[in-house]
Amino acid sequence: MVHVSHRPKILVTGATGKTGRAVVAQLLEKGFPVRAIVRSRDTRSQRLDRLGAETVVADMFDVDRMTAAMQGTVRAYYCPPMHPLMIQSAAVFVTAAKAVKLEAIVGLSQWTASANHPSLHTRQVWLVEQMLAAIPDIAYVNLNPGYFVDNYLRLIDFASLLGLFPILTGHSRNAPPSNEDIARVAVALLMAPDRYAGKRFRPTGSKLMSAYDMAGVIRKVLGSPVFAFDLPWWMFERAARLQGVSAFEVGSLLVKLLRIGYALLCNLISFPLPPGIT
Ligand SMILES: NC(=O)c1ccc[n+]([C@@H]2O[C@H](COP(=O)([O-])OP(=O)(O)OC[C@H]3O[C@@H](n4cnc5c(N)ncnc54)[C@H](OP(=O)(O)O)[C@@H]3O)[C@@H](O)[C@H]2O)c1
Repeated sequence: MVHVSHRPKILVTGATGKTGRAVVAQLLEKGFPVRAIVRSRDTRSQRLDRLGAETVVADMFDVDRMTAAMQGTVRAYYCPPMHPLMIQSAAVFVTAAKAVKLEAIVGLSQWTASANHPSLHTRQVWLVEQMLAAIPDIAYVNLNPGYFVDNYLRLIDFASLLGLFPILTGHSRNAPPSNEDIARVAVALLMAPDRYAGKRFRPTGSKLMSAYDMAGVIRKVLGSPVFAFDLPWWMFERAARLQGVSAFEVGSLLVKLLRIGYALLCNLISFPLPPGIT
């Protein structure tokens, strides 16, 4: 049985990222003290300071810094960095969590996580789930969303300024959750981890839509023409790399998109999907 304190201090990793910063803001709104792990001091960490978080600079691959940063915290939101050595950062996190005797961890995973997925990143996410679930005496709750709506929203500027909405996912449909809604679920789990320990939660948006459907909504909201088109992979790769997205992240996305294409092909020619392909 996990002991539950009243309003314990909660550690948030990836606190400047998509879900992390929303988790920090919502926990503070609910009156929880928050220690936010940031990689460096910048305008994003200053924003967290202004909200009332205690920001601490720590590299998630550094076990001494992470253990020190975790001292005095009781529960944690763990957002693993997207990195080829993500397992190493998870091992650091688990070692530190055991050292400070955390009470509970809500870990961000993803719903495609599986042992034999072709993407190295996705296989690693699955391994991280196993590591977190195996820590004795620490309650673990798995937060398991799919592709975030944020990925589509990043293209809104093209639609509003140029009337162009580039699409990478073809006609495949998704009900993507927002960063804030994912955080709402994380915060509810962090508030009562003993109730949810050992479970998996999958936040989604309210409606299944393709990116072409989304372009239709954007067109209606803007009241001006928006032309949706399939973005060639080479063009996406180039734009993503110019914006600083790592080769590892771009490669992981390519494997996932090829997999969606494979699944669609199997559906079209009425083949049963091979095990593990969804
Ligand atoms: N995006 C999606 O659609 C999606 C869907 C399902 C699951 N996920 C999972 O979400 C996780 C995060 O991915 P994301 O794209 O959403 O990224 P994100 O949370 O927006 O950004 C990563 C965060 O981690 C921090 N960070 C990275 N490396 C660090 C290090 N070595 N030490 C300290 N902090 C570090 C970053 O700080 P800096 O910005 O300062 O580097 C940033 O705050 C991934 O594990 C992914 O599997 C994402």
